[in-house]
Amino acid sequence: MWKHGFLGYDASLMLDVVVTALVLIVPVLATSIWLVKFRHQYTAHKRLQLVLAGVLLLAVAAFEIDMQWVHGGWENVVNKNPDSPRLSGDALESVRRLLSIHLIFAISTPVLWAATIVLALRRIPSPPAPCPHSRLHKTLGWISTIDLVLTSVTGLLFYYVTFVR
Ligand code: HEM
Repeated sequence: MWKHGFLGYDASLMLDVVVTALVLIVPVLATSIWLVKFRHQYTAHKRLQLVLAGVLLLAVAAFEIDMQWVHGGWENVVNKNPDSPRLSGDALESVRRLLSIHLIFAISTPVLWAATIVLALRRIPSPPAPCPHSRLHKTLGWISTIDLVLTSVTGLLFYYVTFVR
C-alpha cells in the first residue's frame, strides 16, 4: 500500500491521499460558501475555512516531503521501473506541460489562501460579520476558490492521464 497507494492504481500513497483530498475539498468549500452566502452563518464559514486550510497544509506538506525526499521527484513515481517506463517521449513531454500548468495554480493557491485568511482574521470582527473588509474579502475569497478548483481539476487530470488511462 505504501508503494502503490489505495486507489488501485500504480501511484504512491501520498499521491492517493492528495488526490482524495483534492476531490473532497471542493464540496466542503462549496458548503462553506453556501453557508455564508445564503444562510449568513459567518462563524460556521470561518471555522470550515480554517479547518480546510489546516487539512490542506498538512496534506500538501506530507505530499511534498514524500514526493521530493522519499521518491526523489514525480518522474520516479511515474516511471517506477526505468527498464519499462510508463511514459516516455511525447507522452512524458505532454504530462510535463500539464504539470507546469498545474503548478501555476498549485503555487498561487496557498499564497492567495494565506492572504485571504490573514486579512480576514485581522480585519473581520470576532464573531465574524459583514464589515468594511467584506468587499475585498469577497473578491479575494472568490479568486482563492477559483484557484483551488483549477488546482484540483489540473491535479486530477494529471493523475488520470498518468495512472488511470
Ligand atoms: C481562504 C479562506 C476563505 C475563503 C476562500 C473565503 C471565501 C469567501 C467568499 C467567496 C465569500 C463571499 C460569498 C458571497 O459571494 O456572498 C465569503 C464571505 C465571508 N467570509 Fe470568507 N472565506 C475565507 C475565510 C474566511 C475567514 C477566516 C473569515 C473570518 C475571519 C471569513 C469571514 C467571512 C464573512 C464574515 C463573509 C461575509 C461577508 C459579507 O457578506 O459581508 N472568511 N468568504
